Amino acid sequence: MSSIIYEPNRAFSKEARIKNMCEYKELCLQAEEDYTGYWEKMAREKIDWIEPFHTVLDESEAPFYKWFLGGKLNVTHQCLGRHLKVRKNKAAIIWESEFGDKRIITYLQLYYRVNRMANLLKNRFGVKKGDRVVLYLPMIPEAVFAMLACAKIGAIHSVVFGGFSAEALRDRIEDAQAKLVITADGAFRRGKPYMLKPVVDEALSVGCESCKKVLIVQRNREPINYVRGRDFIYNEIIMQESQHCDPEPMDSEDPLFLLYTSGSTGKPKGVQHSGAGYILWAQYTMEHVFDVKENDTFWCTADVGWITGHTYIVYGPLAMGATTIIYEGVATYPDVGRWWKMIEEHRVNQFYTAPTAIRMLHKEGPDEPQKHDLSSLKVLGTVGEPINPDAWHWYREAVGNGRCAIVDTWWQTETGGHMITPLPGATPTKPGSATFALPGIKAEVLDNDGNQVPVGEKGLLCITKPWPSMIRTIWGDPKRFKKAYFGDVKKDGKPVYFSGDGAIVDEQGYITITGRTDDVINVSGHRLGTAEIEAILAHHENVAEVAVVGRPDPIKGEGIFAYIVIKNEGGIGEEINMIQELNKLIVKEIGSIAKLDAIRFVPALPKTRSGKIVRRILRSIAKNEEITQDISTLEDPSIVEKIQELTVS
Ligand code: PRX
Repeated sequence: MSSIIYEPNRAFSKEARIKNMCEYKELCLQAEEDYTGYWEKMAREKIDWIEPFHTVLDESEAPFYKWFLGGKLNVTHQCLGRHLKVRKNKAAIIWESEFGDKRIITYLQLYYRVNRMANLLKNRFGVKKGDRVVLYLPMIPEAVFAMLACAKIGAIHSVVFGGFSAEALRDRIEDAQAKLVITADGAFRRGKPYMLKPVVDEALSVGCESCKKVLIVQRNREPINYVRGRDFIYNEIIMQESQHCDPEPMDSEDPLFLLYTSGSTGKPKGVQHSGAGYILWAQYTMEHVFDVKENDTFWCTADVGWITGHTYIVYGPLAMGATTIIYEGVATYPDVGRWWKMIEEHRVNQFYTAPTAIRMLHKEGPDEPQKHDLSSLKVLGTVGEPINPDAWHWYREAVGNGRCAIVDTWWQTETGGHMITPLPGATPTKPGSATFALPGIKAEVLDNDGNQVPVGEKGLLCITKPWPSMIRTIWGDPKRFKKAYFGDVKKDGKPVYFSGDGAIVDEQGYITITGRTDDVINVSGHRLGTAEIEAILAHHENVAEVAVVGRPDPIKGEGIFAYIVIKNEGGIGEEINMIQELNKLIVKEIGSIAKLDAIRFVPALPKTRSGKIVRRILRSIAKNEEITQDISTLEDPSIVEKIQELTVS
């Protein structure tokens, strides 16, 4: 973290919702003094309830916390229905393809589209409240229609990122026991068509008994295999449905969606979010962190397949009645100025992206932003991984012209929305630090015994009070939920939420995230479990043992480094073949986001005498750090030096 402090832009602060640190502290104090009262007021003010709630927070079955019990709502009313009185003809979505085609969808049009799709799900596919629907879609408006159509009828959507492989998609369909998959023929990337439907066909070719139907949106119009009785073309049947559909009244705690994410052990987990707490959070953070106003145009560059896309492309901007930009393609098509050109053209006011993208665009086109009029920008956000001060400064100066607030937002799939972040009109920022917790969030950096670590020392980042948008459970596995999040740290004898991240608090209370403390790695802001990758590599017939760790990468944040012990030493030729085969396996089982950056074939792995692989040592070796751990307790301490030699070679 850099020690320079940037005060908020005065002119911006004057107009902002939270104008200074006094106001921020006042809100924190209110939440501290009356925690449930604070959230009660927010929820009553911000949510348009069908029936009001009677209980703010029920802790009786902690850590299965329940919020706003007794309340009934439908989040699509929050995102669409209630806007029709005041902004029916305002652009809800501005979509752009790589070729520059645009679709502008007003709130009223979006409302009708969602209703038609909701009717289609109900009438044609028999989707009912509580059923799971998997969405495997590109970045097209139909992805939003489908998410909201599910929400409208009380079905639970589970969006699977379009870069995941057939195997990964199958795992998710099966785990969720989804009834229907909504996909597209394919889409375009770097100016060329790519396909999604064949991946769905492959996923459904084995197992997936629950899924009997597939709905296909035509996007790139490339030929696809059509399975009669199972497959339906959206474009051919959607207009037969009515554009009116009553929203299903949902209990506050009814699940809104599942989103699968990697953990340190086993298969990906279906993070379950519920409607009321989540939508409150989406709106609360849009107001406080992005300070979105009525005429603002908001652009989050994430994919809808990740939580950032859920909260800050779809639910947050629409709950605010803002205009959300959706861009189908890559940042560098046809050139590295693409995003800046779009910001200029659409007069974007808040822009939200990942440090990986900032680093890449900085490297590829440092002067590009200056070629465009970016004066509409007010707030620039980052998310997904730590941002290094260099990238931070370029973002501030080259993109924000030294004028925009930079909000480095720390949060997770499990938190639903921002947790630790600057407020753009109030917080003096330090590059590299996510600064302070939002009002109402109790973030603490603790040691294993639940004590606060001293200033400047690294500890475990915990959230010590429940919050409305927290993960409710892991789909179908409440035991794993308890163990994964409430199993490691207790404070005053009570289990508290442990994020899996490390953090440091400085003498002024600024929080800096130091990265994962568990076996999860973060590649370009994508979370990957090393255990998952190892399990796949271990399937190769010539792999005897494998350990995977993260290694710092100047653009991607972290790269994947695999240490492999092979069964029969076949020499260099065989190793080269194996590298290709291992990467093929990874792409098949997960997708190309998990491709290995480097493989080292080693004679053995560092193990304790009881046979446990000491990954910490491998992590240090991969980072080229000095080994500070005691290696004398290893089964064979000499292996460390050998692995070090092989790593640098
Ligand atoms: O390690 C943290 C990192 O991303 C993890 C959460 O990943 P995921 O659930 O995929 O959600 C990503 C988008 C919210 C965290 O445990 N992370 C996220 N934001 C930051 C971050 N690390 C440092 N600084 C951030 N601003």
